[in-house]
Amino acid sequence: MSENTRPEQAKKLADIDWNNLGFSYIRTDLRYLAHWKDGEWDGGTLTEDNMIHLAEGSTAIHYGQQCFEGLKAYRCADGTINLFRPDQNAARMRASCRRLLMPEISDEMFIDACKQVVQANEHFLPPYGTGGSLYLRPFVIGVGDNIGVRTAPEFIFSVFCVPVGPYFKGGLTPTNFITSGYDRAAPNGTGAAKVGGNYAASLLPGYEAKKRDFADVVYLDPATHTKIEEAGAANFFAITKDGKKLVTPKSPSILPSITKYSLLWLAEHRLGLEVEEGDIRIDELDHFSEAGACGTAAVITPIGGIQHGDDFHVFHSESEPGPVTRQLYDELVGIQYGDREAPEGWIVKVESAGG
Ligand SMILES: Cc1ncc(COP(=O)(O)O)c(C=O)c1O
Repeated sequence: MSENTRPEQAKKLADIDWNNLGFSYIRTDLRYLAHWKDGEWDGGTLTEDNMIHLAEGSTAIHYGQQCFEGLKAYRCADGTINLFRPDQNAARMRASCRRLLMPEISDEMFIDACKQVVQANEHFLPPYGTGGSLYLRPFVIGVGDNIGVRTAPEFIFSVFCVPVGPYFKGGLTPTNFITSGYDRAAPNGTGAAKVGGNYAASLLPGYEAKKRDFADVVYLDPATHTKIEEAGAANFFAITKDGKKLVTPKSPSILPSITKYSLLWLAEHRLGLEVEEGDIRIDELDHFSEAGACGTAAVITPIGGIQHGDDFHVFHSESEPGPVTRQLYDELVGIQYGDREAPEGWIVKVESAGG
């Protein structure tokens, strides 16, 4: 923070109501910025400037050559800072970069950038007990002078952060979803990559679902429209009627959710459930007693019911999360905030500057 921004930032911090943070942009002090040119990344720096000045022909603008990630840093009860599975986000970002013919970022560079951003903005990290966290948004964009459909001559890798609140202020609240005739991705398209085009394609279906008072859309498999793929910008899981098995869809057009794979592991190793990645047919929802959407933002959004055509299927209840959903949520959130023992390698500590 420079001399002349300090009073402004101090005011901004004083204005933050840590117990009532939502998921809105708040400009924090410093962000990481690295450039790729002539086959290599530079060393990267932290900058106060939250604007990016781009060549008008940049492929990110015209051809959607960009990808991004989302992960969080958490303040623990003992004052230390946890990053949750950043190596998984680094690996997924490399997969996205490969799919869009962009240069990859090593684990080391990715995690170092995240740590630098958390440390430089530590005073924006919500205190333990508020349920808040510091959301990190890494991204890679194709930039530089260009006009044809080809990979960019230069790239930018950046990470910025925003303090965010818990998704559900009053605890886990089920919401209702509706199936859509639209697809977010094609069968062999870019659904498994975290690229902007998938999200652009989801804006209209999401808007239409919300206009009808649903939380978001359940996307069906783009080839046959008979099996569940994703729930809004989150993965889907369901618990079988006997309460013994967690099932989650498997498909090459689903984004591999880090939260989902963490829940699968916890369901098997901590809750003693069977787990399966397989088909969940939209006409067989009565096989399941609980369902949820999972992702970094909310951890788990319990799904009350799903509207499909004229049929409205309620899982556990429209007002209360089911028992397995609640156990999974408590286990994962406990690990993220350092209250429960983490499986090996899930937590990366960020050294606190003591601020
Ligand atoms: C389309 C989509 N599916 C699933 C997820 C959940 O992934 P994760 O658990 O890694 O946040 C996200 C959010 O990142 C998403 O955008």
